[in-house]
Amino acid sequence: MTQDYREFAQRLDELASGYTRAQILFTANKAGLFDYLENPTSAEAVAQELGWSPRGTRMLLDGLVGLDLVEKRDGAYWNAPIASHCLVSSSEGYQGHIIQHKGHGWEAWSRLGEAVAQGAPPPEGQAEDSEEELRAFILGMDDGGRLSARDMLEHIGLAPYRHMLDIGGGPGSYPIAFLQRHPHLRATLIDRPNVIEIAREQVAKAQLEDRIDFIEGDFLQTDLGEGYDLVLLSNIVHMLDNEANARLVQRCADAMVSGGLLMIKDFIVDDARSGPPFSLFFALHMLVHTEGGDTYREWDVKEWTRAAGLKDGGFVDLTPQTRIWLAHKP
Ligand SMILES: C[S@@+](CC[C@H](N)C(=O)[O-])C[C@H]1O[C@@H](n2cnc3c(N)ncnc32)[C@H](O)[C@@H]1O
Repeated sequence: MTQDYREFAQRLDELASGYTRAQILFTANKAGLFDYLENPTSAEAVAQELGWSPRGTRMLLDGLVGLDLVEKRDGAYWNAPIASHCLVSSSEGYQGHIIQHKGHGWEAWSRLGEAVAQGAPPPEGQAEDSEEELRAFILGMDDGGRLSARDMLEHIGLAPYRHMLDIGGGPGSYPIAFLQRHPHLRATLIDRPNVIEIAREQVAKAQLEDRIDFIEGDFLQTDLGEGYDLVLLSNIVHMLDNEANARLVQRCADAMVSGGLLMIKDFIVDDARSGPPFSLFFALHMLVHTEGGDTYREWDVKEWTRAAGLKDGGFVDLTPQTRIWLAHKP
């Protein structure tokens, strides 16, 4: 009897059509469409607000209904709860920057075949980010970082620590959340000058200017200072090759005082590289965007900290993919 392959065919069709769903979301998000849908609104009114064609607008709105992001009755459209909570620009759980950032990866991902063949992104694919792209990337880190920082505070006791160093701290989501919870903690954040500008805005919004200072520079070369008892590498190691990570972890260990804690938070894969799925896909995201980035195994992360003279502190898992390796300086 021949195998009934209909279910397989359907699953493959869903995978192959994934890009259509992503583009519906990217297009609506980029235009700020959800900001117009907090109250029931007609397709014609939305088209007029955005200067779009009535035909295209109606089809896009119906696509969003198909994705369960928007609800529809009697020709009026309005945000489903998921959109109200996470896609309206004034919402507390706003995820629009990170979705915009993912949309910016479209071109690079469309050249995945070349990157796989060459083991690196094709040279023309490595153009500098525009200012808009940089802001979407850095504020996108904050969309997820605000949630992860809250989870970290639930899982890791930070009460004993006094001075934190945030390596490649981006928008400063972690020091901001940690300092808000622990009034005796202060922080230093190192990143590139154009990113520090954005971090300063975020720190000013949180009114923490007097407790967070900045180092503008390259975390692999610039003097990191010393005396830190808490060091964070959040979503950093996946951007670098193995050798650079070993070097960076050593630099962190050298900047720490005895009794200090290093936290390496990333999309860490199991030692067989068989999961979790997000982290396996993320390695390809690094292939199309970076020369040496990857997702690393538990084994690699332990090797870096042991070689730097740190003692194992175990893993804390925030989600199946977001994992934190703790290491203590004796
Ligand atoms: C993926 S983001 C992570 C941001 C933040 N740690 C977080 O988890 O939200 C990586 C950050 O590292 C910074 N970065 C990358 N290479 C760097 C380098 N060599 N020196 C300083 N900062 C760097 C980027 O500008 C960016 O802010």
